[in-house]
Amino acid sequence: MIRKIAILTSGGDAPGMNAALRACIRAGLYAGKEMYVVYDGFRGLVEGNIKVVTKDFTQDIINRGGTIIRSARLPEFRELEVQKKAAQRLQDYDIDALIGIGGDGTFMGLGALAKLGISVIGIPATIDNDVASTEETIGFSTALNTICECVDKLKDTSGSHQRCSLIEVMGRHCGDLAMYASLAEGAEAVICPEHPLKEEVLFKKLRKMKAQNKSHAIILVSENLININELAEKIAKETGFDTRTEVLGRLQRGGSPTAHDRIIAAKFGATAVHILTEAKNTTAKILGIKSNVIQEYEMEEALAMKHEPAHGLRDLIDELQ
Ligand code: F6P
Repeated sequence: MIRKIAILTSGGDAPGMNAALRACIRAGLYAGKEMYVVYDGFRGLVEGNIKVVTKDFTQDIINRGGTIIRSARLPEFRELEVQKKAAQRLQDYDIDALIGIGGDGTFMGLGALAKLGISVIGIPATIDNDVASTEETIGFSTALNTICECVDKLKDTSGSHQRCSLIEVMGRHCGDLAMYASLAEGAEAVICPEHPLKEEVLFKKLRKMKAQNKSHAIILVSENLININELAEKIAKETGFDTRTEVLGRLQRGGSPTAHDRIIAAKFGATAVHILTEAKNTTAKILGIKSNVIQEYEMEEALAMKHEPAHGLRDLIDELQ
């Protein structure tokens, strides 16, 4: 039977990680477990930065952005010796199970610990929404709203100056933030891995807009794909639109989580503890959400899945642009 559970957050932080941490701790204490937090992700685990917590620890964190137990990226965690050290730290405290809140990188780390006999559960949290085994990750809703707030403001000035604005958003290699933001903002175009740039089509559209005296254009672009400054120069040359670029950057990762992110975080956290409470043997699972219902997948199965854009999303974008 699992008696002691630790929680860590890892990878890029995401709004709602604290809400998930709160849910795990409270559900664990409710089930009579001893609850621990690990500071600084897998690095803190290797270094033994582990602390036992009570309900007080969760006071007033549900609405806070970032992660109060901090996060880190640790490429060395791919090495077996480093993994063994981390497993040993948990064993030093007699901790039977670890809940990791993060994205794919976090789940790989958890998978390695599962092979060393630790029970693990992964809760998907990243603004990128790029975890294949879930329709939604914690933090995506908040980041999307942040993008919309920024684009609303940019629209004001873009319209006043009759400009074309190229706005780069995060997502690593996933276009969900760009695509959903383009839908929510009624953008003129979106450029992302799932909806690549067709230069001539874009220029034709912008020339037509210019000829019809449409005051301005908003184009959303995923990071790590194209050089937006070079594209801005081409747009100006080919279409006559005075063009500006904006990179929203890490602004997208901050802020108080939306109610939606807090609620899915609560469901994920409590479910993770329920699974561990009922587990008879060493368990390794990743949670997901599908049509609003929490799902559990075996670690190996989830890691083998491939992220696909939501059904019909690209067609809807094309239809409404
Ligand atoms: O995974 C979240 C994310 O914000 C990505 O969108 C982005 O590519 C990356 O993290 C940036 O990471 P860092 O802040 O470590 O440079």
